[in-house]
Amino acid sequence: MKDGKHITMGIESSCDETAIAVLADGREILSNVISSQIEIHKEYGGVVPEIASRHHLNNIPFVFQKALREANLGLTEVDEIGVTAGPGLAGALLMGTAFAKAVSAASGVPLVGVHHIQAHILANTIEHPDLEPPFLSLVVSGGHTHLIEVLGYNEFKILGATRDDAVGEAYDKVARVIGLGYPGGPKVDRLAKEGDPHAIEFKRVYLEKDSLDFSFSGTKTGVINYLHSAQQRGEEVKAADVAASFQQAVIDVIVDKAMWALDRTGYAGLAAAGGVACNSALRAALAAALESRGKKLWIPSPILCTDNGAMVAAAAYRKARLGLFATDRLDCFPGLNIETQLYKLDE
Ligand code: KG4
Ligand code: ZN
Repeated sequence: MKDGKHITMGIESSCDETAIAVLADGREILSNVISSQIEIHKEYGGVVPEIASRHHLNNIPFVFQKALREANLGLTEVDEIGVTAGPGLAGALLMGTAFAKAVSAASGVPLVGVHHIQAHILANTIEHPDLEPPFLSLVVSGGHTHLIEVLGYNEFKILGATRDDAVGEAYDKVARVIGLGYPGGPKVDRLAKEGDPHAIEFKRVYLEKDSLDFSFSGTKTGVINYLHSAQQRGEEVKAADVAASFQQAVIDVIVDKAMWALDRTGYAGLAAAGGVACNSALRAALAAALESRGKKLWIPSPILCTDNGAMVAAAAYRKARLGLFATDRLDCFPGLNIETQLYKLDE
């Protein structure tokens, strides 16, 4: 507690960001420190798990000190420590959970195990006080693409999921074949602004009638095949048109399926989340589709869409209020399903 406010720390290390934040009363960001490893992984064209773990190990103590310093708080004023326990890279998750358990054991501050995707979704609660469960969420990240019914702060039901590539993964692969480098999503976003989204008709995959599942690998392969055949024929390719047309194809499917889910469930709006929710064209397309239906769009600021500690703190705050603390046996779970009750795993 500080000045009558409830203080939550959130620790995130599931992939290539070492991030720690401190929130007051679940919404006020006192600090949000993000140490990105992008520059390190860039030369390999993607995240190298062992390198990620080693950098988390080196960075965590400094990120932790900085987060407390910027929040102007001591550890004894922190009410709970939330940490991402899964899903993610095993070695990377282990660095965060081991550190959080050690700090909790040494200080007596209780621990909360957090599901990474639940944290992405609950990042919306930081800036949108009007958003409360139940609601519908669209998760679009580097590892996940889901339509999820958020029934409570600890109750999540999957309505649809990708059957192959996550949308961010497809963006990153398309960026690589166009020659944009890693991480590709933001670069495709930028380049697409200069292209014609209807120049090339890439495949839109809807699967079975009314299915809320996604499939992006066919669209991605379509881009690769298009580039190969243009190369074989010696034709010049306009990279901006490829980027814009690929982006339009995936956004059409995402927006259509999100609207079907909304029509089916009848919720008042959609809470978008995850790294790809930074995408400017997707943000605009979702806003337009929801406005035309008289529905609301909740979406975090871009800095809260990609991996960060504030989203973990926001989820931990909600769980702590439900009394859902972890024990000192908290483990990490690389393949953790979003419907799993994390707290039952270490009972
Ligand atoms: O949520 P996130 O930070 O990490 C995961 O949990 O996966 O998402 C990272 C993904 C990457 O694939 C990245 O390329 C993508 O989000 N991304 C974007 C944009 N910014 C980040 N994709 C498209 N447009 C963007 N502006
Ligand atoms: Zn993430």
